[in-house]
Amino acid sequence: MSDLGVTAWPPEPITTARLVLREPEARDRAAFIELFASPEVNTYLGGPRPRDELERDLPEVPERWPGSFVVDLDGAMIGQILLRRATGHRRPAAAGKADLGYLFLPRAWGFGYAAEACAAALDWLDGVLPGEPVVLTTQTANVASMRLAAKLGFTEVERFHAWDAEQWLGLRSPAMPSA
Ligand SMILES: CC(C)(COP(=O)(O)OP(=O)(O)OC[C@H]1O[C@@H](n2cnc3c(N)ncnc32)[C@H](O)[C@@H]1OP(=O)(O)O)[C@@H](O)C(=O)NCCC(=O)NCCS
Repeated sequence: MSDLGVTAWPPEPITTARLVLREPEARDRAAFIELFASPEVNTYLGGPRPRDELERDLPEVPERWPGSFVVDLDGAMIGQILLRRATGHRRPAAAGKADLGYLFLPRAWGFGYAAEACAAALDWLDGVLPGEPVVLTTQTANVASMRLAAKLGFTEVERFHAWDAEQWLGLRSPAMPSA
């Protein structure tokens, strides 16, 4: 994966009905540690990372790169959205395409925040890279993620086996200009 290669970064914070999408800041560091150390969050992502290792290794401002959005609810980080370039993706259908990822803290699950934030990030992408298709890979066992992908308009390209699990590759076709 590499970053999107967009020059329009960082954007002005993106505001939705309930949330703000913005660049990571130093005040988000504790929430990033919580996110990466959480067994629940990382069940389908290769497992949690040790908290002490994260405390030691994360930079003062974690995850600050073009395409990395902190999702902020009432001034506090509840999740991260990642838009990257899928360079070196093991499936040819995804290689080189924009790739969506999302991780939210368990206390923020079940309120539609992920759907609201991802839709806003995809709108932003449509603005800076018009006509860009987006891919998404998730384990088929990750039911919440599969539901979210469907809600966001991703459709199945293929299923494949990797990292000891069945994976789902979805594609969101570029938004068509309205007539
Ligand atoms: C994947 C993940 C982001 C999904 O989070 P989520 O909160 O379930 O997703 P949504 O934002 O779509 O919210 C869904 C639920 O909120 C409910 N909801 C409550 N209030 C709502 C509102 N105002 N608007 C919309 N939905 C609302 C919906 O009914 C929906 O439930 P349903 O899917 O059972 O019908 C979350 O499970 C997660 O962070 N998992 C760990 C990381 C991970 O595995 N990421 C995938 C790697 S690509």
